[in-house]
Amino acid sequence: VDDGDRRAPAVRAAFIGSGFMGRMHARAAAANGAELVAVLSRDPERADRAAAELGAARGRTSLEQLLAEDRPDVVHICSPNATHHDYARAVIEAGVNVVCEKPLATSPADAQDLADLADERDVVASVPFVYRFHPMVREARARIAAGELGRVIGLQGAYLQDWLLLPDDDDWRVDSRVGGPSRAFGDIGSHLVDLLEFVTGERIARLVATTATVHARRGGRSVDTEDVAAVLVELAGGAVGTIQVSQVFAGHKNDLVLDVAGELASLRFEQERPDTLLLGGRDASAVLSRDARVLAADAARLSTVPSGHPMGYADAFTGYVGDVYAAIRGERPEGLPTFRDGARAAEATAAVLRSAAGRSWTDLPTRGIDDDRDDATRHALHRAVG
Ligand SMILES: NC(=O)c1ccc[n+]([C@@H]2O[C@H](COP(=O)([O-])OP(=O)(O)OC[C@H]3O[C@@H](n4cnc5c(N)ncnc54)[C@H](O)[C@@H]3O)[C@@H](O)[C@H]2O)c1
Repeated sequence: VDDGDRRAPAVRAAFIGSGFMGRMHARAAAANGAELVAVLSRDPERADRAAAELGAARGRTSLEQLLAEDRPDVVHICSPNATHHDYARAVIEAGVNVVCEKPLATSPADAQDLADLADERDVVASVPFVYRFHPMVREARARIAAGELGRVIGLQGAYLQDWLLLPDDDDWRVDSRVGGPSRAFGDIGSHLVDLLEFVTGERIARLVATTATVHARRGGRSVDTEDVAAVLVELAGGAVGTIQVSQVFAGHKNDLVLDVAGELASLRFEQERPDTLLLGGRDASAVLSRDARVLAADAARLSTVPSGHPMGYADAFTGYVGDVYAAIRGERPEGLPTFRDGARAAEATAAVLRSAAGRSWTDLPTRGIDDDRDDATRHALHRAVG
């Protein structure tokens, strides 16, 4: 059957950077039927190889040329943090949709500037807070929105890794000129702040933080970014809790966990076991396995293989990019992280550094979490089956 006329034209996607994330984005773009038109590389010798690695039609060394000649519908920015602002600005100014990796920028002012510009130019502008795209995260969010936990009274979040444990472990993120003034919190704490606010539907209203740099020197130079951050938080609704972030916690690879305690029950999500959600009750607790038949509608739609067939990070990424492309086609997918969310994480990261430096509590703005929760959202959060 020739259904060619009814099919939406393929999204034309281009990429900046071809490391871990460039490859992740390209793979998710291809899985969503995109045409991979080009990849930008600084180094002319690398450009063609990068294109071959990503499966893109050509390598480019000039963004202007890429935008003009490859006519992308969207550019995925997957380069080091300090490059995000200028690249994202150039893409949006060309009127092109943009996906920009976290942290959206290395200062709250730059992140805000991009969020404002994206609104002004009315492009789809999204930050890959990809953990939002695990079905069981949507399930947790839906249960909290439906009041199953009662009032949220406490929480505990941690994001622990060990890839920078040894003094000779090094990366561009260690250098504040490339990674930004915050390393551990900006790099992974940003995900946790986004997830915590997304799942609870509440803003962090104030925090007090302490940070530590375990190794003063790496790669023959002194280190000016933190390895560890421990944060006390208070949510706008009065709940109190803790956030711990570390890149030097032996044995913990990508150990993001979020516990939310309510008056009636609690929930626990573990990123390394993303197909389950732990439900805590005073009389009995349970492990809820991902099964689209019993999940909230917004969780079920992201559950793309049957229960018992494990889904993970790559699937969440594919779901995320699918929603970005749906937004580009004019749909309004539930829970798509925007540049406003990227700016929020940048604001929280700056607050952590400020609090740690001043050894004092810092307030955060609490505006805006329900702004996007229109009727469509409430509908999507509704349970799939009674
Ligand atoms: N959303 C997530 O889950 C997630 C996970 C990992 C990394 N990230 C983010 O993705 C971005 C890239 O991280 P990564 O782990 O892929 O790093 P990486 O080091 O693996 O890759 C970086 C890429 O950028 C290229 N590059 C460096 N400088 C550039 C420049 N000036 N212009 C264009 N390209 C340049 C490098 O050649 C390389 O291809 C970072 O901002 C990081 O925070 C997000």
